[in-house]
Amino acid sequence: MTRVAVAGLGHWGPNLARNFADLAELAWICDVDEGKRAEYAERFPGARATGDFDELLGDESLDAVVVATPVPTHHELAKRALEAGKHVLVEKPPAMHAAEMDELVALAEERGRVLMPGHLLLYHPGVRKLKELVDGGGLGEVLCVYGNRQNLGIIRSNENALWSLGVHDLSVILYLLEEEPSEAVAYGRDFLNEGVEDVVFCYLRFPSGKIAHMHLSWLDPHKMRRMTVVGTEKMVVFDDMELERKVTIYEKGPWKPVERYGEWQTRTGDIHSPRIPNDEPLKLECQAFLELVGGNGDAARVARDGALVVRTLERLTDSLRG
Ligand SMILES: NC(=O)c1ccc[n+]([C@@H]2O[C@H](COP(=O)([O-])OP(=O)(O)OC[C@H]3O[C@@H](n4cnc5c(N)ncnc54)[C@H](O)[C@@H]3O)[C@@H](O)[C@H]2O)c1
Repeated sequence: MTRVAVAGLGHWGPNLARNFADLAELAWICDVDEGKRAEYAERFPGARATGDFDELLGDESLDAVVVATPVPTHHELAKRALEAGKHVLVEKPPAMHAAEMDELVALAEERGRVLMPGHLLLYHPGVRKLKELVDGGGLGEVLCVYGNRQNLGIIRSNENALWSLGVHDLSVILYLLEEEPSEAVAYGRDFLNEGVEDVVFCYLRFPSGKIAHMHLSWLDPHKMRRMTVVGTEKMVVFDDMELERKVTIYEKGPWKPVERYGEWQTRTGDIHSPRIPNDEPLKLECQAFLELVGGNGDAARVARDGALVVRTLERLTDSLRG
């Protein structure tokens, strides 16, 4: 059984620890905070607890390390784990600069280890359905995609709305379209904390001509977690706030009746919601990681896709600050 360590036992890390305790052998838990270690040592009695990351890296029988510490520590901890020969699942974003991410990708390839970024939404059954619809061609030609991630929610003082919220939508947009943007433009404002944008609008254009947009904000009356894909034949919405109708397909689109001399008209048909399995996305993400560790799947691609997300985030940041 794969032996896994989870580093970082704050808000998110314990969810990862719970899943790996179910799906694999949770061998180590690690946090620099003694109180967290004590709390989770009780909950995961089979795991050894440490505050020293190097101690778990020194365990030769440990296969994989999960990094769920604050973002600025990701690159360094992931690098040390790869250098120690461990497979790595690192929370999003795995690095704050494209060059750092490229270094991790190269290291993982060189050592033949998995480097998987924790892009949770890519394992969401609703997003998988979107992908199936886009790839299946039923939407017609995809014209544009846009994401809304807004809420009067947690106000961060380190990462801005782009890095904190946008990383989710961007990973989905790039996963759906499978292209690197030719243009990446962002506008936003830091209203509350200097240098930390609370509201960000992003525009992406792709070599195929498709376009995408993201509205990211924690200063907003709406709680929205929504992705819309507009195709020439159908349009589809993934709404993660919906309990049952997570995906809605609209048989709506533009068309050009021949008898109207080339004038565009709109067509409206049925609206329906396919059944989306209720599986926990995080469990699916952890399973996908274990599959890669077991040698199944394209680990190099997962790492490279992660690098594209960081690279695009960096371009959007340059635009935002430019
Ligand atoms: N995928 C998702 O939906 C999702 C959701 C929430 C958070 N996250 C990600 O999870 C990560 C952690 O977020 P959080 O909200 O749990 O943060 P947090 O601040 O609540 O927890 C981080 C923990 O890491 C510990 N830590 C710091 N440096 C460490 C080190 N060098 N070694 C070991 N432990 C260390 C801290 O003591 C703290 O307990 C972030 O990268 C965040 O982006 C992802």
